[in-house]
Amino acid sequence: MYSKEEQKEISNLTDSLLKQKESFFKKENPVEELSLLKRVVLFHDWRYYILSEPLISDFEYDSLFKLLQKIESENPDLITDDSPTQRVGGGITDDFPPVAHLLPMLSLDNSYSSEDLNNWKTRLERFVKEQDITFTAEPKYDGSSIALVYENDKLIRVATRGDGQSGEEITMNAKVLKSLPLKAAFSRYGIHKAELRGEVLISKEKFEQLNNQRLEEGLTLLANPRNAASGALRLKDSSEVSKRSLEAFIYQLAFAEDSSGNNLLLEKIPDHKSSLDILYSLGFKIPKKEFGHFQSINEVVNFCAGWEEKRDAYPFEIDGIVVKVNEYKYQQLAGSTSHHPRWAIAYKFKARQATTRLERIEFQVGRTGAVTPVAKVSPVSLAGVTVTSISMFNEDFIKDKDIRIGDKVLIERAGDVIPYVVKSLEDVRDGSEKVIEFPDSCPSCHSKLTRPEGEAVSRCINALCPAQLVEKLIHFVSKDAMDIRGLGESLIKRFYEMDVLKTIPDIYTIDFDKVRTLEGFGEKSVENLEKAILKSKKAPLYRLIFGLGIRFVGLRTAKNLAAEIEDLNELTVLTEEQLLEIEDIGPKVAGSILDFFSVDENKAMIQRLEDLGLNIVSDKSSLKQENLPFSGKTFLFTGSLETFSRKEAADLVESLGGKTISAVSKNLNYLVVGASPGSKLTKAEKIEEISILSEEEFKNMIETINK
Ligand code: IVH
Repeated sequence: MYSKEEQKEISNLTDSLLKQKESFFKKENPVEELSLLKRVVLFHDWRYYILSEPLISDFEYDSLFKLLQKIESENPDLITDDSPTQRVGGGITDDFPPVAHLLPMLSLDNSYSSEDLNNWKTRLERFVKEQDITFTAEPKYDGSSIALVYENDKLIRVATRGDGQSGEEITMNAKVLKSLPLKAAFSRYGIHKAELRGEVLISKEKFEQLNNQRLEEGLTLLANPRNAASGALRLKDSSEVSKRSLEAFIYQLAFAEDSSGNNLLLEKIPDHKSSLDILYSLGFKIPKKEFGHFQSINEVVNFCAGWEEKRDAYPFEIDGIVVKVNEYKYQQLAGSTSHHPRWAIAYKFKARQATTRLERIEFQVGRTGAVTPVAKVSPVSLAGVTVTSISMFNEDFIKDKDIRIGDKVLIERAGDVIPYVVKSLEDVRDGSEKVIEFPDSCPSCHSKLTRPEGEAVSRCINALCPAQLVEKLIHFVSKDAMDIRGLGESLIKRFYEMDVLKTIPDIYTIDFDKVRTLEGFGEKSVENLEKAILKSKKAPLYRLIFGLGIRFVGLRTAKNLAAEIEDLNELTVLTEEQLLEIEDIGPKVAGSILDFFSVDENKAMIQRLEDLGLNIVSDKSSLKQENLPFSGKTFLFTGSLETFSRKEAADLVESLGGKTISAVSKNLNYLVVGASPGSKLTKAEKIEEISILSEEEFKNMIETINK
């Protein structure tokens, strides 16, 4: 994709750009200057999204990107379709029209053992007798399949798989994926039009972050990374799609023709491996390190076994290995059935699925009043864990899948992801199964439930609902909120039932003499509990704000809020306008905060907490990271450190207001050098602005600050 020389050249250019910023541009030839800047940004996109080996820090990348946006906004007629700024999204659509694929997207036949793979090879031999046949093997990505059409080097259309013949057009949403080049030099290979197949995925890590955020915001959880990816591709607002951090692996060049309509696969591009090499050279993300090319099925079997071992450690969900005949001439000889090609087969990993019986449904009320159906199933072992309870998310989930009480259900647990119900086994119903009725009233307080339009969840809106109160208490004491150790879920429930605890302020007036008399309480545990509660009074304000459990106010928002106010009372009187000015707060969050403080009981609770001696004052400076010793300073660690791990060192820098960055550039203030440093030191030595510190010097610096 980029030669060594080119990479060096762009890297030098990056340094000059980062240093000179706008003054780099002489404004003599805006077209040329802009294309230079675009080239730099695209190059860093490639290092980050395709290679996963960035050369500059996120901060540096952002400043280049903003520079590009600024120059383009000054020269709007020079904005091109393939500019990296054009991916950001913002277009709204709920129309995903059907489009026919250039070639049908078939399914794959499955295999589960080495025997199955050998049998497949035997079946192949009826069609392909040649001895020089070879096989490729690569992960079977468990995401959402897409087909991409490029014409004249431009991405013109992206579609979902659909029924295999035609899918839904999702071009606008797919364009936000930075691993999909908007422009690619197919013409270099004489290709005028091409259709590529691939899989859109969300990494396991990003999926977990996404669900944690949804949990904080009181939204329903996404069942698994596959659903998160396919759901994201159909979101109406493409700027929302970009927030899901989707990536695309391309695994097939399905169609390629020149401008006279000649098929180039076979004659010009002889096999699958060379197709993928071409796609890689054009800037696509392909299975590269993950790819195997073999002469025999035995080697393929070993490759599959190796992947079965390491699938959990791989950052994306995969459910098997796809084995393909490499040579197109032999693929052609093998041909396809109406359902799948004979030249490819999926080797499926051992299932993380099981069947069990759905015994009953419990409706649980969360702290924001959301009522979630939870399936109680006969205990079943699934990937090493006994499952008895499974969240069913919401009413639509159950209705769409027509799940009934008494049904035999297929359940799945992918990787570390929470188990979920894949489907009911309708064929084995005996007629005694019961349709799941949704309650109209709250299972805890019996007040009427409401389901706001456009939302998937029914809610109890009674502020005094016991189930909600208990959940609110559990949230208040949780680790990211007030972190009151020793006051766990079961104790809260017990205290609630005993009338010891009804509301949040009650935590601070617990009668410990009474607690001492309770069964299971020794002096030590009472003392620890008392201490933990006392300690929480001093917690930083953002923890208290988060602990209040205001809908949509997650930890990050709580921090942003705390950074803007002097004390908690100020938060209760902020206007919508003032709230909207705060980072990351949009109308939905602002509305929810206003609603919360419009309730007299909530205002009274804040007053009570203040009277009880809780810290309600904001420690603004530490949140804004302004007046800290390392504010505005950047650090980079190289070589192995003796006293700290990298993470500890980075945390230390951050706690003092500094930032760590990942590459040596003029934006770096301090390079801290441990034992056997690499090329970073050599590079830094050439840059005057960088101070080079030994680990000892860095430690002294910290000690001086802490004195
Ligand atoms: S090749 C003609 N390669 O698996 C079949 N498919 O059951 C060509 N998939 O929905 C497919 N990873 O999206 C192929 N490395 C890979 C794949 C892969 C995932 C999906 C594909 C399709 C399904 C086929």
